[in-house]
Amino acid sequence: MDSDEKTIREEPEKPSKKKTKRKQNPINDFDLDNWKSLADIWTDSLWLIPSRDKSGTHTAEYHGNFVPQIPRQMIQRYTKKGDVVLDAFLGSGTTLIESQRHGRHGIGIELLPEVAQKAKARIESEPNQYGVQNRIIVGDSASVEIKRDIQEALCHIGREAIDLVILHPPYHDIIKFSDNSNDLSNKKTVEDFCDSFGKVIENTAEKLRAGRFLIIVIGDKYTDSEWIPLGFLTMQEAMKRGFSLKSIVVKDMQGNRAKQNQEQLWRYRALVGGFYIFKHEYLFVLKKQDEDRAPK
Ligand SMILES: C[S@@+](CC[C@H](N)C(=O)[O-])C[C@H]1O[C@@H](n2cnc3c(N)ncnc32)[C@H](O)[C@@H]1O
Repeated sequence: MDSDEKTIREEPEKPSKKKTKRKQNPINDFDLDNWKSLADIWTDSLWLIPSRDKSGTHTAEYHGNFVPQIPRQMIQRYTKKGDVVLDAFLGSGTTLIESQRHGRHGIGIELLPEVAQKAKARIESEPNQYGVQNRIIVGDSASVEIKRDIQEALCHIGREAIDLVILHPPYHDIIKFSDNSNDLSNKKTVEDFCDSFGKVIENTAEKLRAGRFLIIVIGDKYTDSEWIPLGFLTMQEAMKRGFSLKSIVVKDMQGNRAKQNQEQLWRYRALVGGFYIFKHEYLFVLKKQDEDRAPK
């Protein structure tokens, strides 16, 4: 035996790596022992989404709807099967289609009856393999009466609380959804818009379980040669009401068809006006206080 061999043989045996069980997250269904298999769950704060999912009844038809990938990521990340998701600006129903596909119950609020009706039909024509329940409320999310409707919807589903709130309001007056004065796209000033949005947060967050999440999806606007940061203003409305900020995601925003055709004109305007053309919107991930931290 030469000396090198002796050294190798005498080296103390390394303790075998014990496979310790990873901590599981109580608010989603991820198996963190196999976290490498979660490749389709995004964890970066910059989302470049090359194309919208148009599977099933998802469609880009409703002007101002979001890509299904947005609620899908949020639902998977912040809820478990059997949980309740509430969307207070239902529009074409994208969130409830996604929650149904993933086995979560859904409550949707939409101000405009005909829009709510179409969303309902769309959701009902999707397979409901987990047998979840959906309740669609036609009403004003900013009015205090909506709290009673939410309570009734929860009773119907047989639950006491909401597990995730998703808010995708009008980006103030960028797209006019109706002539209804309660429509957030008709609020006269940015302050009025923010006040109403704050009420929507109060109404929907009341039944949100402690420690759970509220997501705001919104873009900014440009008026009278000024950038109006609707994103940060609405984020503040949630933070003023005790929510803590967990993340800001920046998502790329492809211009609408009309704007795409005017790409060069916009570039010229930007060069003249000294501004940058909007190419992004935000997702604010906000957490309701844990029960043990709530003021007694
Ligand atoms: C940006 S869109 C939401 C689109 C939706 N995420 C989708 O994928 O179809 C905003 C929606 O909020 C509705 N809305 C506006 N003001 C409202 C209010 N006070 N209460 C409830 N819904 C309102 C509009 O009619 C519109 O359908």
